[in-house]
Amino acid sequence: MVTQQELAPWRSLLARSLHRNRSKPQSRYFQLATVQSNGKPANRTVVFRGFVETSNHLKIVTDRRSEKIEQIQQQPWGEICWYFSKSREQFRLGGELILIGDRDRDSEFYTERQNTWENLSDSARLQFVWPHPKQERSPDSGAFEPPAPESDTPVENFCLLLLNPHQVDYLTLRGDPQNRHIYWQEEDRTWRDREVNP
Ligand SMILES: Cc1cc2nc3c(=O)[nH]c(=O)nc-3n(C[C@H](O)[C@H](O)[C@H](O)COP(=O)(O)O)c2cc1C
Repeated sequence: MVTQQELAPWRSLLARSLHRNRSKPQSRYFQLATVQSNGKPANRTVVFRGFVETSNHLKIVTDRRSEKIEQIQQQPWGEICWYFSKSREQFRLGGELILIGDRDRDSEFYTERQNTWENLSDSARLQFVWPHPKQERSPDSGAFEPPAPESDTPVENFCLLLLNPHQVDYLTLRGDPQNRHIYWQEEDRTWRDREVNP
């Protein structure tokens, strides 16, 4: 059972942006930055898989074999950058990244991992049994056509990745001058916000 969280004030803004930009499928993609062990940033595009119900956690799915896993294990802070081109808004959400893999049976999000797997398309599920990411291209094209994994049993490589935001920087280009708000979570987890110059 997932612990209930106070819904953050930026949540409704994000929900509104998703709604306003729903005609653009690319609005479901954002960039996720992590930190490599050498201190350099790593950034990539991922798909937004919705929120964990009754919380502010954003859901992403990823492969346990991908490089971001080790980066997150060493430094669990990440930042999402999300631009909505129709409404011309940018959200930068920084916070703690939480990985839920096959072995994390004690995690409060283990059932969420199961549900997320069940809701993936067949083609999305298949990618988790493709050959190892970033290794030399497999000469055997059959390696990319493995037997379909079962829809009710997540494969070992499947990880649910959550971002629990602690700070949000919201910039809207509409208006002259533009508008920018900063939201942050205090130690007691209450959210505060302030309007700042763009
Ligand atoms: C439009 C688009 C959507 C993507 N969605 C995901 C995703 O949801 N999860 C994921 O792990 N990688 C996704 N990728 C691939 C990543 O951008 C990246 O190449 C991969 O995760 C390996 O990254 P890493 O080596 O930094 O771990 C997507 C790429 C594109 C272009």
